[in-house]
Amino acid sequence: MDPDGSEQDPEMKEQYASVYVGREEDVKRSERITAVVHDREVVIFYHKGEFHAMDIRCYHSGGPLHLGEIEEFDGRACIVCPWHKYKITLETGEGLYQSIDPKDPSAKPMWCSKGIKQRIHTVTVDNGNIYVTLSNKPFKCDSDYYATGIFKVIPSSF
Ligand code: FES
Repeated sequence: MDPDGSEQDPEMKEQYASVYVGREEDVKRSERITAVVHDREVVIFYHKGEFHAMDIRCYHSGGPLHLGEIEEFDGRACIVCPWHKYKITLETGEGLYQSIDPKDPSAKPMWCSKGIKQRIHTVTVDNGNIYVTLSNKPFKCDSDYYATGIFKVIPSSF
């Protein structure tokens, strides 16, 4: 089974090969770095003993997530976009929001998920080196819009 076709297409296979992005000790010390992985800009966070990688530009309007603060909401670690304060879970890329029942003004706001909005990539640690493998999950993720086309800062090699 080859759901993304990468076994037949060597170019696709190359695009999803893992890329070295830095030394483990350096990322742990700085707690975040940015990198370009096969022409895609990503940010890698180190938070509470775990590494997380995601598209660097916020799915909402392209805000610079590497400049945001990490906070916990409903027990989930999120990067808060510095532009309009959208909250994105580090683990899954879900957009979180609070909702209330307008018919019940006494109700407490509840945290809800919009689903996966920011594309999450895989971080691997090997022998003190950090590698990122781009996600090849075949779904349309909102952050893809700012990671490709005219919004892409790094020009394609084509
Ligand atoms: Fe990130 Fe608007 S651009 S919240």
